[in-house]
Amino acid sequence: MNFQGKTVLVTGASRGIGRAIALELAHQGAQRLILVARTSSRLADVAAEIEAVGVEAVPLALDLAQPIQVNIAIAQAWRDYGPIHLLINCAGVAYQTPFLQAQLSQVQDEIALNLMGMYTITRLIARRMAVQRQGTIVNVSSLMGKIAAPTMATYSATKFAILGFTQALRSELSRHNIRVIALLPSLTDTDMVRNFQWFRWVIPTTPQKVAQALIKGMKKGTPEILVGWQSHLVVWGNRLLPWLIEKISRFTAPYPETQQDRQLLKQTMANSR
Ligand SMILES: NC(=O)c1ccc[n+]([C@@H]2O[C@H](COP(=O)([O-])OP(=O)(O)OC[C@H]3O[C@@H](n4cnc5c(N)ncnc54)[C@H](OP(=O)(O)O)[C@@H]3O)[C@@H](O)[C@H]2O)c1
Repeated sequence: MNFQGKTVLVTGASRGIGRAIALELAHQGAQRLILVARTSSRLADVAAEIEAVGVEAVPLALDLAQPIQVNIAIAQAWRDYGPIHLLINCAGVAYQTPFLQAQLSQVQDEIALNLMGMYTITRLIARRMAVQRQGTIVNVSSLMGKIAAPTMATYSATKFAILGFTQALRSELSRHNIRVIALLPSLTDTDMVRNFQWFRWVIPTTPQKVAQALIKGMKKGTPEILVGWQSHLVVWGNRLLPWLIEKISRFTAPYPETQQDRQLLKQTMANSR
């Protein structure tokens, strides 16, 4: 794909992977970047970085978990800055909690943003792209969308669902000349994972490397873009020897079943009575 002269909307653009993708696309010659996240001040900072490269940037502060707000904002953005050629669905949230201690409110947050938020904005933009008979949509899933991780049950479930959503849309929207791609980053050093207990032996990559892998994958026309050779190895391993990958994932996961865990669980149950 050629990014020259394209208008791109990136969600989750205020920091982390979304910010890195927006900056990389500016360097690749995109004409205009519409930057979506909730925090105006951070969006303004990223917009300034993009403008410094000589590319137009439009900060659009928006809570993607609020469908009415999203509906109005996207209609206005399309009218003022459209057509949007490329949508990058990168906003996401993750909580690391053992399932037995999980809070329903966190589960709801993950589903509201990672799934419903993606669904809402994608539907609004895909309908308009279909009228134009052109467009590309990138949905950011995760390596955890292929291999579910202990302590991340709901997050993994949303990322598996994103791959199914992407696969279905890829077939369905191709007749409207819309391409639909999934990006599956592995552990990346961003705010999202800063307070996580990391999995043993897993070394994080950088948001910049994820952005570069996306550009490379899109230029090659890859439908599911993995980041780094380790991800390819894990996905192939899971196809050939799923029991082994499950064992490794169990072994490398944080929160082993300990006395302290059982104590915490008792406390959680006492608090929820
Ligand atoms: N980091 C990793 O290890 C990793 C690995 C695999 C996949 N991923 C995926 O990559 C994507 C980006 O993750 P990241 O690590 O860059 O996370 P991050 O640093 O926490 O950034 C999350 C972004 O989403 C925005 N956001 C959060 N809630 C929002 C809402 N309700 N409405 C609109 N925007 C919202 C945040 O901005 P505001 O707070 O200002 O709204 C921020 O820009 C996510 O989909 C994540 O699941 C991450």
